[in-house]
Amino acid sequence: MNISLDHPVFRTISETVDEMNVTSYVIGGYVRDLLLKRQSKDIDVMVVGSGIDLARAVAKKMGRKGRITVYGNFGTALLKIGDLDVEFVGARKESYRSDSRNPSVENGSLEDDQNRRDFTINSMGISLNGETFGELLDPFNGLSDLSRRIIRTPLDPDITYSDDPLRMMRAIRFATQLDFIMKISHFSPSAGIGARIEIISKERIIDELNKIVMADRPSDGFYLLEKTGLLALVFPELDWLKGIAVVDNLRHKDNSGIR
Ligand code: CTP
Repeated sequence: MNISLDHPVFRTISETVDEMNVTSYVIGGYVRDLLLKRQSKDIDVMVVGSGIDLARAVAKKMGRKGRITVYGNFGTALLKIGDLDVEFVGARKESYRSDSRNPSVENGSLEDDQNRRDFTINSMGISLNGETFGELLDPFNGLSDLSRRIIRTPLDPDITYSDDPLRMMRAIRFATQLDFIMKISHFSPSAGIGARIEIISKERIIDELNKIVMADRPSDGFYLLEKTGLLALVFPELDWLKGIAVVDNLRHKDNSGIR
């Protein structure tokens, strides 16, 4: 399948990656949103090689049209072009420890990079190399999940969610924002993964909650938070709500025989 990448920056990146003889893809949320016809100003460019070197070479070609910021510690670089943010990152492989959300990161292959991603709909890439420019790379059938409106992990959900428990919140956030469905059982309390949300910082959880609240129907998100057991884990102080639900049920039962 061939996808049209209209913004001129993609042609500039394409020329540059061919000159540097490296393989590169637009990847992640931009691809998902493009296929869903949603506007996005954040472009992630993945290169099998150095993201910083590629960003510098592209910035040189863009001249005054682009402004580059290099994040040496992370091995990434951001190029601002008008209202677009283009982030360049080398393909990576991540391995996680059970008590930390911060993975150890090493350079990886294209396949490693797609395997480490959260959902099939976020693992698709579009080629930037001249010969294959615009071709969709979709090893986990993300396109089919987009049309079936499903949130699914590329690997076994136990691995993807316990590697990075923030993804439980992201799953619910995407299901709410996009009106997709997700499998609640994948991280319900019985799956034992839910409690790992405790290693995630409050700020990141709040970011996801904000996105749920900003969606068209935030109640879908809160329903999923409740059903998966995450609501009680992120808001232990809301325990009293359970009492309300019981009273409500009882009232409903009490009323059932009354005309
Ligand atoms: N990603 C991931 N696990 C996370 C966060 C991000 O695998 N916990 C990957 C996904 O492939 C995601 C990409 O990194 O598509 C970019 O992440 P981010 O910018 O946070 O999200 P987007 O998918 O772009 O969506 P949005 O901009 O709506 O947050």
